[in-house]
Amino acid sequence: MNIVVIGSGYVGTTAAAIFATSGHKVTAVDIDEKKVASLNEGKAPFFEEGLDNLITDAVKNDDLVATASYEAVASADVVFSCVGTPDNPDGSSNLTYVFDVAKKAAEEMKPGAIFVQKSTVPVGTGREVLKLFPETISYVSNPEFLRESTAIYDTLFFDRVVAGGDDTDACSTILELHGTVETHAKDIAVISDISVDIDALAKHSGEYVTTRLESAELIKVTSNAFLALKISFANSIAQLADTTHADIDEVMGVVGSDARIGKAFFKAGRGYGGGCFPKDVSGLISSAKSFGVNMPIMTAASDVNASMPSYIIERIKKVHKLEGVPVAVLGLAFKAGTSDARKSPAVKLANLLVKEGAHVSAYDPQASEEAAPDLDASATLCESIASAVKAARIVVVATDWPEFKDLSWVRAINTKPLVVDAVNCLVPSDVQALGAEYLGVGRGV
Ligand SMILES: NC(=O)c1ccc[n+]([C@@H]2O[C@H](COP(=O)([O-])OP(=O)(O)OC[C@H]3O[C@@H](n4cnc5c(N)ncnc54)[C@H](O)[C@@H]3O)[C@@H](O)[C@H]2O)c1
Repeated sequence: MNIVVIGSGYVGTTAAAIFATSGHKVTAVDIDEKKVASLNEGKAPFFEEGLDNLITDAVKNDDLVATASYEAVASADVVFSCVGTPDNPDGSSNLTYVFDVAKKAAEEMKPGAIFVQKSTVPVGTGREVLKLFPETISYVSNPEFLRESTAIYDTLFFDRVVAGGDDTDACSTILELHGTVETHAKDIAVISDISVDIDALAKHSGEYVTTRLESAELIKVTSNAFLALKISFANSIAQLADTTHADIDEVMGVVGSDARIGKAFFKAGRGYGGGCFPKDVSGLISSAKSFGVNMPIMTAASDVNASMPSYIIERIKKVHKLEGVPVAVLGLAFKAGTSDARKSPAVKLANLLVKEGAHVSAYDPQASEEAAPDLDASATLCESIASAVKAARIVVVATDWPEFKDLSWVRAINTKPLVVDAVNCLVPSDVQALGAEYLGVGRGV
């Protein structure tokens, strides 16, 4: 198929690289010339394991080309819209990019082509976007479920692919297109060189689901809202665990072993962040409100989440002063495995520490550049773990990168610091065995 993917962010770049490795000709369109140049040089414009390998291969084989021009839209069979849907200051979804792209595509697309919305949009958006297109173009909502840091893996081991729309033939075509990804799964795994069990991949099967347009839109935001809810639920229980000498990992581990509940997203810590959960939760609250529906359950989840960095600071202050104290923050990305620092609670923690008068030195293996604009200017960005922690009296592990879990950095420090595990990724007894004090979230002191 001749495919155009508009938007070369985390979702668009992954989709473009995957489709180009699945037997299709793909043009990636982005208004950001830097991203276009990066893709044409065979590199993703951000860090995501395995993606550079796919892009390099696809560009070399002429299966993928990037451009800032919309020219290729005119000959495309399928046009994917993967542009950002950030939040407005009031929490509602900013759909400017979504409508911009749809307007431009509607002017160019050939009759019979399919416009696919991969961006996460509030329920009801598709019906409005559809009005921009002539009747000869079909509209399909095909929400994306990948996670940054495991984007290729998630695409290969998909749980479900959803296509929602009025034109069931167009929905089937989009599901079949994703079927070609399943057919090429082994190639994708081998070329990307991510760690994959090829036998498990051969046996894997996910669901292909056709739904109403509105259902597809609501499925995506509901999934993210529920995961955010689980995290905030765990964080609420963690606060009770802290005051009662229970251990949150023991509690949620056993609670989650109930098949009706499940263990995923029950990890307590400094809360969720990134380019999806915060704005998808606020977008859901806002869009529900516009239909006259209140979502107090999501407002509570959002409030608990926003309070976690301050909760951790208060817990530190109970055992150690912060004013004038050198504090290292390890990790700025919103989670390990990505350079994405959008709405990162790790950055929020670093900034709160600065506000408390601490001298903050911060390090992240991938996200320093993306975190820098949001990081308080008086925090020092370091080039290595060693330089960040060398004078620190307190070390806050704020993102669970594997190199932080390996405690060699604790061993290397002579005067052992207080280790604050804001993501509960360390084994407390291992830290204590090295002579350092340990403070987690919901694990007691
Ligand atoms: N990042 C994720 O993990 C993830 C997962 C699932 C769904 N989503 C959703 O997918 C969508 C995209 O997310 P993302 O993280 O990839 O966003 P992003 O901000 O990383 O990328 C969006 C890209 O769109 C480009 N763009 C904006 N306007 C454009 C235009 N008119 N023409 C061409 N390009 C344009 C921007 O330059 C940018 O490169 C969002 O709705 C998001 O909620 C994201």
